[in-house]
Amino acid sequence: MKFLNVDTYQEMSRQAANLISAQVIMKPDSILGLATGSTPIGTYKQLIEWYKKGDIDFSKVISINLDEYVGLDANNINSYRYFMDKNLFDKINIVKENTFVPLGTAENLEEECKKYDENIKQLGGIDLQLLGIGLDGHIGFNEPSEVFTKNTHIVDLDKSTIEANSRFFGSIDSVPKKAITMGMASIMRAKKILLIANGKGKKEILNKALFGPITPQIPASILQLHPDITVIYSEE
Ligand code: PGA
Repeated sequence: MKFLNVDTYQEMSRQAANLISAQVIMKPDSILGLATGSTPIGTYKQLIEWYKKGDIDFSKVISINLDEYVGLDANNINSYRYFMDKNLFDKINIVKENTFVPLGTAENLEEECKKYDENIKQLGGIDLQLLGIGLDGHIGFNEPSEVFTKNTHIVDLDKSTIEANSRFFGSIDSVPKKAITMGMASIMRAKKILLIANGKGKKEILNKALFGPITPQIPASILQLHPDITVIYSEE
């Protein structure tokens, strides 16, 4: 594991964007696993800046996102499809049809989970997976549990996750209680993993996840078994 402790959020974002752009330069048709949340916004901003300067070309890139709230569609400002469009996809030259986010409004959610995994498999797996980490140690929306769930699945969100994410929804009651998330198998099969985290509040869980026992009670702890993981942390 490579662990980079940097001083500022901006430095974390710049370093993460550096690794993502290196991936895309080396393999223009990379399959990028992408994440939502406050943490990656700076990384996406940096990538957009470099794209505008002509330094990165996303025209052949395929992206696969980790998760989506059940019940929210692309027009809902709190959906992760909306987040990705506004914070990245609409500002770079990625082909929209090549961007995949689970469909939270699918009529048959179980079928959507199967389709999502099948698609990842057909694409040949993820080259570089960007991850944030939740305060409860979740990655994607893989919440603490008795087991590591392998496949894309529907989850009941943890109270702490609902509370943390209520900052975007105005009230706790408006936060969806369920989500669809990629499972651990697709995440762990990614050739490279890039985990970013910032803020004092994330320090304890990050320490537990990276250096404590490997347990599904701290889902991110499984990442200790990945052969090619880079973690970038800034206390800011
Ligand atoms: P955050 O979320 O980037 O908004 O802190 C991270 C996560 O929950 O995975």
